[in-house]
Amino acid sequence: MAADEYVLDTPRVHEFIEDVQAAVGRAASPGEAIDAIRPRFAELLADPDWLPRTFQEPAPESGMGGGIGQWLLYRAGDGSLSLFSLVVPPGAETPVHDHLAWGLVGLYRGAQDEEIFTPDDGGLRISARRSIAPGDFYPLIPPLDDIHRVRTTSAETSVSIHLLTNDTGCTWRHAYDPDSGQQRPFRSGYVNVDCEDDDASPRP
Ligand SMILES: [Fe+2]
Repeated sequence: MAADEYVLDTPRVHEFIEDVQAAVGRAASPGEAIDAIRPRFAELLADPDWLPRTFQEPAPESGMGGGIGQWLLYRAGDGSLSLFSLVVPPGAETPVHDHLAWGLVGLYRGAQDEEIFTPDDGGLRISARRSIAPGDFYPLIPPLDDIHRVRTTSAETSVSIHLLTNDTGCTWRHAYDPDSGQQRPFRSGYVNVDCEDDDASPRP
């Protein structure tokens, strides 16, 4: 098994991850873990100093397209947890995509509109829309709220922080055509680290 990887190797990130892992270890369900993590996640979003500018920059060649940068901050060696920033330039939007793991997503900078999709009769329908501002965050517990698309609505680049219980950037997930509901294999990667099996084909 690979070692835990602190790309952003600071006491602040270590402390946060240790608190999260303790909460996950104590919780009887994802919902219970999320409730325990909420206050720490809110503190992280409210702290202006812990995330260096490097991790708030867009990335022209990214796997998400649109210059969207997905920067790994931490991941567990066993693939059970990752913390990353997602940087979306003004006017850019992600593909409609899923995550395949529970966790928390919150906004650190800028403004975003989010559309949440629900599988329906072989296709997808929009089940909710919300606008989020810095400090706002929401849980994902698949299949609930797992499929979404985000778009930056601010004049400045938006930066969101993702804490998810997989190695999200290196996990084969799905992107969807929002009109037909048709899915395709999708792996976003990270701007700043490789995935172990970079040449691997999508898993069925
Ligand atoms: Fe997402």
